[in-house]
Amino acid sequence: MPIAGSPSPVSTDPPLSTGPSASTGPSASTGLPPAGAAAQAGGFAAAWLRANCPCAGCRDPGSGQRLVSITDQPADVRVTEAVADRDDLRVTFWPDGHQSVFRRSWLARQSAPAADERAQDARRLWVAADLGGGPPAWAWPDYLASAAVREDCLATLMRDGIALLRAVPREPGAVLAVAAGMGYVRETNYGRLFDVRVEATPANLAFTGLPIAPHTDNPYRDPVPTVQLLHCLETAVAGGDSGLVDGFRAAELLRAADPDAFGLLAATPVTFAYADATASLQATRPMIGLDPAGRIREIRFNDRSLQPWRPAGPAGDAVAAAAAFYAAYRALAQVLLRPELMVTFRLEPGDCIVFDNTRILHARTGFAASGRRHLQGCYADLDGVSSTLAVLRRGARQPPGQPAAVPDQAAVPDQAAAPDQAAVPDQAAVPDQAAAPDQEAMP
Ligand code: OGA
Ligand code: ZN
Ligand code: ZN
Repeated sequence: MPIAGSPSPVSTDPPLSTGPSASTGPSASTGLPPAGAAAQAGGFAAAWLRANCPCAGCRDPGSGQRLVSITDQPADVRVTEAVADRDDLRVTFWPDGHQSVFRRSWLARQSAPAADERAQDARRLWVAADLGGGPPAWAWPDYLASAAVREDCLATLMRDGIALLRAVPREPGAVLAVAAGMGYVRETNYGRLFDVRVEATPANLAFTGLPIAPHTDNPYRDPVPTVQLLHCLETAVAGGDSGLVDGFRAAELLRAADPDAFGLLAATPVTFAYADATASLQATRPMIGLDPAGRIREIRFNDRSLQPWRPAGPAGDAVAAAAAFYAAYRALAQVLLRPELMVTFRLEPGDCIVFDNTRILHARTGFAASGRRHLQGCYADLDGVSSTLAVLRRGARQPPGQPAAVPDQAAVPDQAAAPDQAAVPDQAAVPDQAAAPDQEAMP
């Protein structure tokens, strides 16, 4: 019987097995599973197997997307027959006799723990010495010319959280081409890009020659921009050097040294806010974001936009709680300032530093306000970077001239195929005119 609401399953497949015999068929009188029906097969729960059936009735052969909803499958689905040969596992289900054929090689891969590429286990946490004197760097012309360079650069950006592109044209708006060559520009109230230079009446420290302590940008947004780019057009005569810190590493050091402070920062939502004449933004999230297993997944840290701590719930000792929060906040800030954690370098004209804004904190030293230092920045997102990298890797696995594989059960079952729409860095968006910078903009 077809699953309710779905196309007829396995209609074109030859019968895979004899199916349940009369003696093991469903009991019409009780509705109970027949004797011998199993809650699992091959180490997978019956419900798991049924939900992941690759037949043309359950999964669209073209896109690989599931055609059925979880409520379409019987609540108490069981396996009445499971036959394994060298390559396949053939399963027949009770109560509807639905049949599935699973590649055993595919099944084997599903036993590996699910990986969250954003959480700390998928990253390489670093201190400055691990980077060998500066951020990993590539030449922008090489990035444009070579898929292998793009793959190496983006893999590093995902793993280490930073990538420096050199020889980016010293032209206003070029930062947008870099972002578009990696993913998608995230437009904000500051425009598609923003200028960082000394202003006559600065609305923000970024637009003075003052030093800026390690911070993540725009923590007052939810979702936060997950990638930041800063492109140097002109440099200061002296000073204005850049620093980057791995916030995941810093938070891990705090967890080891002061688990209570770490736990407090992970459990205390705090509000970051920004307002100017045309924008009013705020987000309330913990400074240290964890996944359900307690792995670090996100850092939000910005002295400038942090709002006063307020009690999360009713009653309690607010004075003691506030004192504990500020002590923990201070403890994290102290770790972030450890010299051995910060990779320092100087952005030269044509350099564009790209970093994971959910992980890497950026800073700069002070410089003479009379100087001509000029950066342009913009935001993008890690999901786009990750997608561009995945498509590059897909391309690298294929012989030249072959079309990209349509996802099938053996490849990426939960991704719709859209190989033709993959980002092509060489066709990166032509930088459009720089949006008139908001005088009050505070990156
Ligand atoms: C920024 C910022 C650093 C710099 O604009 O977000 O932190 O080097 N700038 O000027
Ligand atoms: Zn099916
Ligand atoms: Zn910043």
